[in-house]
Amino acid sequence: MQDINDKPLLVLEGIEKSFGALKVLKGCSLSVSASETVVVIGPSGSGKSTLLRCMNLLEPIDNGVILFEDREISGERNDKHVVRKQIGMVFQGFELFQHLSAVENIMLAPVKVLGMSRADAHDIAVGLLRKVHIPDKAGAFPDELSGGQQQRVAIARALAMKPKVMLYDEPTSALDPEMIREVLDVMAELSAEGMTSVVVTHEIGFARSAANRIVFMDGGEIVENKFTEEFFSGAVGGRARRFLDQILH
Ligand SMILES: Nc1ncnc2c1ncn2[C@@H]1O[C@H](COP(=O)(O)OP(=O)(O)OP(=O)(O)O)[C@@H](O)[C@H]1O
Ligand SMILES: [Mg+2]
Repeated sequence: MQDINDKPLLVLEGIEKSFGALKVLKGCSLSVSASETVVVIGPSGSGKSTLLRCMNLLEPIDNGVILFEDREISGERNDKHVVRKQIGMVFQGFELFQHLSAVENIMLAPVKVLGMSRADAHDIAVGLLRKVHIPDKAGAFPDELSGGQQQRVAIARALAMKPKVMLYDEPTSALDPEMIREVLDVMAELSAEGMTSVVVTHEIGFARSAANRIVFMDGGEIVENKFTEEFFSGAVGGRARRFLDQILH
């Protein structure tokens, strides 16, 4: 597990979000330090995905403030594209471009968004495929890859923008059991290298070994926010304990 410093990279203060009459986030506050890995757990519908989507401005917030490197990014006047370049996101369903090969999927944003030459982007993409342990899959199309390989291409694609934070929303829950490990291993390696990460997952083994901190959400609130060891030592309230009992037994 990576040592963390105290410098907050991403700060959420009192985030509120409703969909119509349904209040989904009821004043969530969270500070993520540079190099920290935070795992977010909680029951279905508790607001985990919404919280993650608010972090990279995929979802506008109703109230509260989001700071990234001490700068407010949640205001109307902010350029969402500038923020999203710095915050990478990986989804449950991979969301690769089906008509592009693995290497082309990874090259796309550096070429289109950063204006990088195709040759430079290709070099970066090849290096990233090596990093996610599929160096021989550059020319493969998504439908020629296993789910675990596709998710690792999706991680490489996010990394190609050199983000300062990676957000993962249940990255392994669409995968067959034998592929979960290879994806979690890549995520754990990135965390160990100091990639600041926020991970929504039910993989408690990953949480125990790779997370510095565990956040437990329930009913649109952050109910627990504890260092990993403390969280799993049982120093949590009844809601978190009942949730853990359910998923561990
Ligand atoms: N775009 C939307 N429009 C309306 N309601 C939404 C929308 N997105 C989410 N919700 C609702 O907000 C609540 C929180 O959803 P969210 O997806 O954040 O939960 P979650 O904790 O990620 O759940 P899961 O574990 O099932 O992924 C749910 O009641 C959901 O139905
Ligand atoms: Mg979700």
